[in-house]
Amino acid sequence: MKLVILKERDQSTMNITACIHKLGLATLWRLPPESAHNLAVWALKSGLVPESKTQMQRKLAEGVFKTAELPGVGPLAHPICLAAGFDKNAETAQNLHKLGFSTAEYGTVTPQPQAGNMKPRLFRLKEQRALINRMGFNNSGINQFVRNVAAAKRRDKMKIGINVGKNKVTLQEKSVDDYLFCLDKTKSLADYFVANISSPNTQGLRDLGSQTFLSDLENGIDPEQLKKTYIKIDPDRPKQNFVKLIEMISKTNFAGIILSNTSATAYPEKGGLSGAPLMSTSNRSLEVAYEVHQGSMPTIASGGVLSGRDVLEKIMRGADAVQIYTAMVYRGAGVVDLLLEELWLAMRNAGFQSLAEARGALVRS
Ligand SMILES: Cc1cc2nc3c(=O)[nH]c(=O)nc-3n(C[C@H](O)[C@H](O)[C@H](O)COP(=O)(O)O)c2cc1C
Repeated sequence: MKLVILKERDQSTMNITACIHKLGLATLWRLPPESAHNLAVWALKSGLVPESKTQMQRKLAEGVFKTAELPGVGPLAHPICLAAGFDKNAETAQNLHKLGFSTAEYGTVTPQPQAGNMKPRLFRLKEQRALINRMGFNNSGINQFVRNVAAAKRRDKMKIGINVGKNKVTLQEKSVDDYLFCLDKTKSLADYFVANISSPNTQGLRDLGSQTFLSDLENGIDPEQLKKTYIKIDPDRPKQNFVKLIEMISKTNFAGIILSNTSATAYPEKGGLSGAPLMSTSNRSLEVAYEVHQGSMPTIASGGVLSGRDVLEKIMRGADAVQIYTAMVYRGAGVVDLLLEELWLAMRNAGFQSLAEARGALVRS
């Protein structure tokens, strides 16, 4: 009897939470994109978002969604993680775990505060379930970032990553200093780290996918931190150039790769394209990377995941975990629960009992 009452209570809490998430989503969509984003960050920062409780608790406990070992974060109970860019200043570090992500990546943060590009700089392409952004690394700088992370008492509730980049005004040949500065300042504050060399909105950033930059970065980082540092790559490189980059990274001691960032576009707005239209481009880069590393390189996929079926598609192309951003804009704060339910259905339809079985199924030779 007690159990039934408890279960009913759990169910009604879930329903209320789902209603709040739906209401929140409807409110946010009435606002211009960047105002909606700022309001969402503020709500999370203020603790106004209810804690999500997934219906997939039993499957989680059985280890159905367990990922492979990922440097810095270990095996995760499920593969759904928050991508960089949602919280560039780590303002929500106290409460973000409430959304149920396995990991959250804060940043991109740069040494000095910078305003980013002129507004408007974030656009919804509603019919395509996509976004275009040309934010340009707007952030409060590494010192404020460190204060925010350090002040968050509940950050142990979820694994966190810190994503670093360069200031716009930093000379191209001095770029590595910006990365090393931010990495050093945050050394003890996160489970894993990311060197972002792939955003399309900072001139010259993608040129950092070079032997010189990677060697300078590798040689400059603390060896323990290096093992937990991922390189985030863009999906737009010509195949030969992309293969060369993956080969270069595979010869280093970096933790692995994040594939991919947004795709550079000029239409209907200039910036980085994310969401559904990015899925195939980004998947292609996962496939090519797998051809090179044959499953040996820890890989976090990002780009175009809107459904649980999309999560499975990435895992079947060799990803260990999956990051999302645009899906949260389109599906709301309850997105992790929705994706997990859909992922379980997609796994059942494809005949997989666990994610371990699915990993690389489409690309293994
Ligand atoms: C508004 C916006 C800002 C972003 N800012 C960053 C950033 O600062 N650093 C970064 O590495 N990626 C950034 N991204 C890219 C996301 O982390 C992610 O890789 C990309 O959006 C693809 O995933 P999605 O299709 O699930 O959104 C940003 C994306 C969006 C939409």
